[in-house]
Amino acid sequence: MKPDLKATLAILIGMSGAIAIPTASFAADAAAGAAAWTKEYPQSDGSPARSCVTCHGRDLTKPGRHAVTNKAIEPLAPSVDPQRLTDQAKVEKWLLRNCRWTLGRECTSDEKADFISYIETQ
Ligand code: HEC
Repeated sequence: MKPDLKATLAILIGMSGAIAIPTASFAADAAAGAAAWTKEYPQSDGSPARSCVTCHGRDLTKPGRHAVTNKAIEPLAPSVDPQRLTDQAKVEKWLLRNCRWTLGRECTSDEKADFISYIETQ
């Protein structure tokens, strides 16, 4: 291989690497979503700590139970209910509500992407 061609290839490979790194850091992370799913958030009013598990449980293929109303919640896993995560407006609405109730604030775009990519694997 001619040295100048080799140099060009090295530059191209280097460039694609440089592009791949920032893309990867924006990618949704199912493992981070799984960890965030069970993370307990202490409540300032002294009520028991809350997590996504509080209502949906640890096993997303099983029904959950609403911690306030005590009503059953159908499984979130798309493998059980293919309609899950198909309605963007519904997903946004519930993430807004559930993040506020659980974390005491809205979730960031990254946190929401991680939760969704975790739920998608279930
Ligand atoms: C206070 C109880 C409660 C907690 C805690 C809770 N959720 Fe929910 N969640 C619900 C209810 C109720 C629904 C709507 C009923 C349904 O879709 O079966 C829902 C629906 C959803 C949906 C919509 C799924 C779809 O496409 O149909 C997502 C996504 C979701 N929750 C994620 C979360 C995440 C992430 C957390 C933790 C930050 C969380 N939930 C914590 C009660 C809760």
